[in-house]
Amino acid sequence: MSEPLIHPDITKAHTLPSRFYTDEKSFQHLMNDMRNSWYFAAHSSQFVEHDVIPLIDIEEMLGDALILTNSDKIRCLSNVCTHRGMLVATGPRKCSTLQCKYHGRTFGMDGCLKNMPEFQDVEGFPSASDDLPGFPITEWKGLQLVGGDRYLKEAIAELQSRLGWLDVASFKHDKSRFRSYEIGANWALYVDNYLEGFHIPFVHGDLHGVLDDDEYRTELFEGGVLQIGIARKGEPHFAPPENSQECGERVAAYYYWFYPGLMLNFYPWGLSINQVIPLSVDRTRIVYHGYVGNPEMLGKGAGGDLDKVEMEDQEIVEATQRGVSSKSYDRGRYSPKMERGVHHFHRMMTLNE
Ligand code: FES
Ligand SMILES: [Fe+2]
Repeated sequence: MSEPLIHPDITKAHTLPSRFYTDEKSFQHLMNDMRNSWYFAAHSSQFVEHDVIPLIDIEEMLGDALILTNSDKIRCLSNVCTHRGMLVATGPRKCSTLQCKYHGRTFGMDGCLKNMPEFQDVEGFPSASDDLPGFPITEWKGLQLVGGDRYLKEAIAELQSRLGWLDVASFKHDKSRFRSYEIGANWALYVDNYLEGFHIPFVHGDLHGVLDDDEYRTELFEGGVLQIGIARKGEPHFAPPENSQECGERVAAYYYWFYPGLMLNFYPWGLSINQVIPLSVDRTRIVYHGYVGNPEMLGKGAGGDLDKVEMEDQEIVEATQRGVSSKSYDRGRYSPKMERGVHHFHRMMTLNE
């Protein structure tokens, strides 16, 4: 049997070959593979203002236009009108039925066709194929998750066992925390950078001032990585309860990454979600959504100035894209102490190589 591309023993392993960041074929291969993964769609608090929410991030990631609707329950439906393909909802809104703007076809919030003008003479109409197809949806504490089920059970078990004590369902959507950046780098380079705290002292001076590097740690699980940032003395932190694994520790942040590109960053103020959306082999969109649980903690500690940290990361990641695109570079080695998360990710990316 040939050796795996990324050796399972980090002390022997070489990092991901540069073609994974630069080659169109490798990019397409990974894109197809991502269809089996699950994705974050919305948090229940977004339904205070809206009854229907188009899933723009997911459309960009998977090429499928979907919506969430909220009536007797939350559903995930196709956002494509079954008449001639217009989008049913072009933005989030309040409504009790879904009416296509093009020729007036109307669907219930469950996706069933209700009415269509000028179709009296159409044979066999309506049939089930005129309804909006539905897709699976799962909820964890208000987070609505859609897509495939690869690693989904593992993710929910991990979140529940670690953060079951945190009242994520009561967090409130904060529109002002939305950001969307387009960067000139492959999506996996952005993920690589997220998965290690190794660069914090070099790249993030302010963040380094609040996190204790000796206590920073990385835990691996099936389908993802958790990094725990511990606050320096006097810096803001969670107070994890007695039944939690971090009871008595000054946790400044729980940084969760789930394959391929979802980041759930829990701070004492609430939850900042990043979606890493591959646009092409060397272009990526990074979207931020914010949900606030404890407004008094906003602007403080590790989650205090996320815009600054993001700019610092983007600069590094874009320059690294140029580096890995150079003919003279192919791959490097990992620090066994600091880069276990990156190694775990690269092993996942190359499972089928
Ligand atoms: S495309 Fe929707 S009613 Fe015609
Ligand atoms: Fe960073």
